[in-house]
Amino acid sequence: MKHTSAPSGENNNEMVVTPWEVKGKVDYERLIREFGTQPLTDDLLKKISSHTDSLHLQLRRQIFFSHRDLDTVMNLYENGTKFVLYTGRGPSGPVHIGHLVPWIFTRHLQEKFGTRLYFQMTDDEKFLIDDDASLPETRKYAYENALDLIAIGFKPKDTYIIYDVEDMDLLYDITLEVAKRITYSTARSTFGFQDSTNIGWVFWPAIQAAPCFIHKKLTGENVPALIPAAIDQDPYWRVTRDIAQKLGYYKPAQIHCRFLPGLGAGGKMSASMPETSIFTMDPPEVVKKKIWNAFTGGKGTAAEQRKTGADPAVCSIFQYYFYLFEEDDAKLAERERKCRAGEMLCGECKTDLVGKLNKFLEQHRERREKAKDTIEQYHIKR
Ligand code: TYM
Repeated sequence: MKHTSAPSGENNNEMVVTPWEVKGKVDYERLIREFGTQPLTDDLLKKISSHTDSLHLQLRRQIFFSHRDLDTVMNLYENGTKFVLYTGRGPSGPVHIGHLVPWIFTRHLQEKFGTRLYFQMTDDEKFLIDDDASLPETRKYAYENALDLIAIGFKPKDTYIIYDVEDMDLLYDITLEVAKRITYSTARSTFGFQDSTNIGWVFWPAIQAAPCFIHKKLTGENVPALIPAAIDQDPYWRVTRDIAQKLGYYKPAQIHCRFLPGLGAGGKMSASMPETSIFTMDPPEVVKKKIWNAFTGGKGTAAEQRKTGADPAVCSIFQYYFYLFEEDDAKLAERERKCRAGEMLCGECKTDLVGKLNKFLEQHRERREKAKDTIEQYHIKR
């Protein structure tokens, strides 16, 4: 993707986490400090699990690790005020399995709390920020990506997909109220806009803010929105939270996840690096090839690895078991032990993962195909 003016770090190893770019080694503790978010505490996890039977894998393993006002939302919920969920996707291309991480968790929340989800497809955002994108293309991907979303298992009755270009009439008045209250100076310091940034992009954050507040317009109910997403989206919520109460709404709450890494040495899974990303439409042979080329924590030779063991902490393959493909904590711990002890070599671990991933993707694609018949039921109900 070619950006008109991507706000970016100067040197290659420097950590950069913005909604448009994630680079360098991500230090999540530092992000909590610098973004001013809160860590997810054991007490808060206990509170959540009291409503969800057991703790979801992504909470147990601290994949979701930070929040803003989740405690407030839980307290309100316990006192009878429900919340709505809000998340989204910038449809610039096909969906990769990193995108599925927050969606899987969002579906869990929808099911356990019986809440409505607003899902924003930002076909306008991707058009504005990518020099090469055309509107027909981003709108086509919005449809394609919605199929992936539906395949995760969201309930049609409670899922409201907003396609920005098509549904802007629903968002526009709220967007204007938001835009009027955010100064250029705030937007520039939050997002790093430059003189060369096009003015559509500068206005854009007000559009991503609007779904936080749409529930009141549609139903008359004033309830908070809870936003599950990776931490790259947080700058949007900072500016939105500043103005929410002035407009008579709750501040939107967030729960932030880490990035599923790519298959290279470090870095998040990113569509701009297709060779180290697994897309939901990748055929089995492509998945196999990508996994076999992946960066691992293995040693130069099998003999050396049997003797000294490998390092799962730096291994991209191990992360896939950790994030998505080994639900059983005991089995995950056993895999880690065997790896460190040199009892399981990278070839075996990769072969297992290829099998699990291809099975997952095959089932996902079956549900995705069926979604073509139901996709209209998910379009925002007016
Ligand atoms: P986008 O399309 O960049 O990303 C969609 C969602 O996926 C998350 N994400 C990841 N999560 C885990 N591991 C990764 N490697 C990874 N890469 C991306 C993102 O954080 C996001 O949650 N501007 C947004 C679209 C949007 C939105 C929202 C997102 C509109 N409203 C509300 C979240 C919440 C975008 O371009 O997302």
